[in-house]
Amino acid sequence: QSGGYFTYKGVLFNSKVNADCLKNIETLEVKEDDVFVATYPRSGTTWTEEILSLIYNRGDVGKVKTTPIYTRIPYLEYQYFPEGQTEYDRFLELPSPRLGKTHLPYNMLPRQLQEGRGKLICVARNPKDVAVSYFYFHRMNRSFRTPASWDSFLSDFIAGNVVGGSVFDHVLGYWAHRSNPTVLFIKYEDMQKDLHGSVKKLADFVGCELPSGAVDKIVDHCSFRSMSENPMTNYSKHPDQRCRFDTSNAEFIRKGIVGDWKNHFTDQQNIAFDKMLEEKLSGTGLEYDFDI
Ligand code: PPS
Repeated sequence: QSGGYFTYKGVLFNSKVNADCLKNIETLEVKEDDVFVATYPRSGTTWTEEILSLIYNRGDVGKVKTTPIYTRIPYLEYQYFPEGQTEYDRFLELPSPRLGKTHLPYNMLPRQLQEGRGKLICVARNPKDVAVSYFYFHRMNRSFRTPASWDSFLSDFIAGNVVGGSVFDHVLGYWAHRSNPTVLFIKYEDMQKDLHGSVKKLADFVGCELPSGAVDKIVDHCSFRSMSENPMTNYSKHPDQRCRFDTSNAEFIRKGIVGDWKNHFTDQQNIAFDKMLEEKLSGTGLEYDFDI
């Protein structure tokens, strides 16, 4: 593929994804207290990661303010510097309990994780807002191909012809395992509706008891405003300048709302998208909030 893109098991990846890591991830020796945040891109990964980081630090904001999020939580399939360490190798070196991030489809996760070792948190977001957010992300990420237009991007997104593959295949792969006791399936829109409750749910799931007042501190620190201004979460200090996004078009933590799709989808695009959603999701029980 041109532009450094390549395909593995039918899914498109960008040049920062290390093909060896994809194989190593499958055979990773998962520890019981490992926790993985898995999402389709632009679904609330960074938000959930920051919340988890703080849960592990029992709400101590000071600790997460000195280390960037990508250092605390390796992005398993990535390699930032071509000559440097892979994020997979960095993950192996982390002290337990280890936190990892991935955008891989369910079938490419570590086998042991799929078998119930460690814990898996999947965050899903309504795919119309994902499409919009991903469109802006393509225009700022130097390792992605810049889309010719919103129109052409949306067509590629619907066809699954984008980095990470089809959002529908991705989410349904995780949805099928939502009842597994080692899996937590949460939605971006529910975090927007009730961040306090979502923090408690995440803490319960990873088995962390939080001291009094910690949930409020986490909610405050993880507000959109606070995270968008925080250099430890907005990637503005990434050591690889190619990973410091081109923010002339949009910020990494961009708008943080539910329903921005309405400012981008034409009526025709919306009708076509709804039709396709109906086809993909019918009978699965998966529903989204497109507005809150
Ligand atoms: S990535 O690049 O795949 O890791 O992106 P990801 O973190 O999954 O998703 C980015 C979108 O999440 C929004 N975001 C937030 N929304 C609300 N509150 C907080 N604290 C927050 N942090 C990140 C971010 O703005 C992206 O969505 P859009 O719609 O583009 O604003």
